[in-house]
Amino acid sequence: MRIAVVPGDGIGAEVVPTVLPALDLLNDRFGLGISHETFGWGAERWLAEGVGLPPGALDLLTAEYGAVLLGALGDPRIPDMAHGRDILLGLRRGLDLYVNHRPFTPRATGRSIDLFRENTQGLYSGVGGTITQERRTAVAIDECVYTRDTVEKFLRHSLRTLSDQGRERVTLIHKSNAVPNTGRLWQEVFRAELAHFPGLRGSEEYVDSFCYHLVRDPSPYEGIVAPNLFGDIVSDIGAALMGGLGLTASASICPETGFGLFEPVHGSAPDIAGLGTANPYATAVTLTLMLDHLGHPAASSALRRSLAEAVRSDAATPDMGGHGTTGSFMAEVMRQLEKDLANGIDAVPGGGSHG
Ligand SMILES: NC(=O)c1ccc[n+]([C@@H]2O[C@H](COP(=O)([O-])OP(=O)(O)OC[C@H]3O[C@@H](n4cnc5c(N)ncnc54)[C@H](O)[C@@H]3O)[C@@H](O)[C@H]2O)c1
Repeated sequence: MRIAVVPGDGIGAEVVPTVLPALDLLNDRFGLGISHETFGWGAERWLAEGVGLPPGALDLLTAEYGAVLLGALGDPRIPDMAHGRDILLGLRRGLDLYVNHRPFTPRATGRSIDLFRENTQGLYSGVGGTITQERRTAVAIDECVYTRDTVEKFLRHSLRTLSDQGRERVTLIHKSNAVPNTGRLWQEVFRAELAHFPGLRGSEEYVDSFCYHLVRDPSPYEGIVAPNLFGDIVSDIGAALMGGLGLTASASICPETGFGLFEPVHGSAPDIAGLGTANPYATAVTLTLMLDHLGHPAASSALRRSLAEAVRSDAATPDMGGHGTTGSFMAEVMRQLEKDLANGIDAVPGGGSHG
């Protein structure tokens, strides 16, 4: 299994290299057979050569790689984020990564919520344009486009995953009172798909009132399914409820091919880039989502245990209440991981440690 690593811009390029030693250690000890290769796609290459996602990249990834681990994209020198759209939306749409899973655990409850966001259509479908840029008569259009087959396959996969995990409640967020056409399509398909999962109790909420209820009391929620833009916004609320954007991870999957793009929810954070204080936790949790997806739950659990220990230490970064740095936090995670693996917990025959 080959992984394409794209650190990207700003803190993406800081956090990704610090978590890779954890992947290498787990790979060695659990015999995972994973190798990785780093690609310099991002702002520098865009500015120097005008290249975002290089020609042939999608074919190369599909033929030779099973997953992408991405840090973040975004650079103040490219204010319209043209390179970010080219690379990120190019990967999501080009590889049909229509399921975006963004789990978060509100501090107030300590119980995780699985957010599933449709990742390729809606307001991100790229349909629209600017008719005139004349100051007073400017017309700008971004169309919200949904096809029934994408809504169906997205909801079926999300509901099946929730059902397999033993979840009992799922909430559809929509805005069908004001955005009736796509809203009604989502409601209709949600009700039809829910009928296949008798263990799941469904509810539907307007996205505005949902945000209000989620912030006031997240306890009623277990699974959330959402169109693209609503899911994007709600995942940042989830990050805030958890303690910050340095903590949340995401997996973008094409269930048919199994290909996955794994990235933290946060962006390139230009306000703290270069300070050495960016929290690598979100990217390390991103690794656990990737390991789970690739069928390595024991390695994923070992990393989760080490992260949980390291968060409680003073090596944690300031956003987690510690006095540490990107490097000191991951050094503590590695120390905990070595200790954990030395105890032989969950190590499997075939790996470097036979516990
Ligand atoms: N998937 C992506 O690559 C992605 C996602 C969101 C934003 N962006 C881009 O990133 C750039 C900056 O966007 P933004 O400032 O709106 O969002 P951001 O997520 O980069 O930062 C928002 C705030 O959270 C803090 N933060 C984020 N990650 C952190 C971490 N790991 N540790 C500690 N603090 C952290 C930042 O310091 C900042 O105050 C923009 O160019 C935007 O387009 C990219």
